[in-house]
Amino acid sequence: MQKILLTGGHGMLGKTIEKVFSNNDFEVIVTDYHNADITDFNLFDSVLKKYEVDCVIHCAAMTAVDLCETEIDKAYLLNAVGSENVAKACEVNNVRLVAISTDYIFDGESDRPYNEFDIGGNCHSVYGKSKYAGEVAVKTFCRNHVIARVSWLYGAGGPSFVHTMMKLAYNDNIEQLKVVDDQVGNPTSTIAVANKLVEIVNKHNLTGVVHLTCEGEASWFDFVTEIYRIKGIDKKIIPCDSSEYPTPAQRPKNSRLDKMVLRLHGMEPMPNWRDALSEFLDSEKF
Ligand SMILES: NC(=O)c1ccc[n+]([C@@H]2O[C@H](COP(=O)([O-])OP(=O)(O)OC[C@H]3O[C@@H](n4cnc5c(N)ncnc54)[C@H](OP(=O)(O)O)[C@@H]3O)[C@@H](O)[C@H]2O)c1
Repeated sequence: MQKILLTGGHGMLGKTIEKVFSNNDFEVIVTDYHNADITDFNLFDSVLKKYEVDCVIHCAAMTAVDLCETEIDKAYLLNAVGSENVAKACEVNNVRLVAISTDYIFDGESDRPYNEFDIGGNCHSVYGKSKYAGEVAVKTFCRNHVIARVSWLYGAGGPSFVHTMMKLAYNDNIEQLKVVDDQVGNPTSTIAVANKLVEIVNKHNLTGVVHLTCEGEASWFDFVTEIYRIKGIDKKIIPCDSSEYPTPAQRPKNSRLDKMVLRLHGMEPMPNWRDALSEFLDSEKF
């Protein structure tokens, strides 16, 4: 039986990964801030030595994108230094590392989906820059690594865009919603990511960057339109520009990721985002 260790195991993606890997006969060691703080190299190294795992799936991060703009040191401590610690500990303990990253490492100016060989790091947000610094650390300090970029995630329990929109749907005080229509990306379920990670962990010759987002594309407006269509919710939604909703962190206009590496390795594509969303909405209670 293969043994994996999860960082950030109590987060939204971590919880789904634990469930899916356990269902696929992996032994899963779930760690988080309280028992394996990634900002403490010695502590994390001792945890790895104790459990003797085959692979680490590194989900821990500071994910509050807007908060990263003001808590800059904390963002780099978790996303850059934390990832460096995880990478160094994996290297010295001879453990394969699968590190989760994000579409936000790109600036979003391209008019086509970004593939795994496009250069990132030219993004505008602290979150994106700190996650990119984490990617560089993983590449630099751990030879046996995979960097799996995901985006626009939703999963059991949330928090996510889907959960927010469902809460608003049942709020009778809100008659209509304005939703941004000029940012486009790949809405992605944590189940789809976790299922593909099982294949990747079993595929030892895959190293480097891989994009793991659902197929097909949508704006946030398209995304909520589909959520409400599937759930039969009759609430007026009005498309708007992101300039109407200024946020501390600038989001990429184009967040679409091409899954070139899955194709090059002859692997099955990710599910279409509408199918994955429909499956999720059937299973989640709001
Ligand atoms: N959610 C998205 O839409 C999205 C999109 C693209 C990429 N990603 C990436 O996907 C990964 C998982 O995201 P998620 O949505 O599951 O995030 P999440 O729910 O915020 O989970 C992150 C986890 O990391 C933990 N953590 C924080 N500081 C830590 C530390 N010092 N040591 C160990 N653990 C620590 C958090 O614990 P506390 O809650 O106790 O702080 C939390 O359980 C992240 O790498 C993120 O950058 C997410």
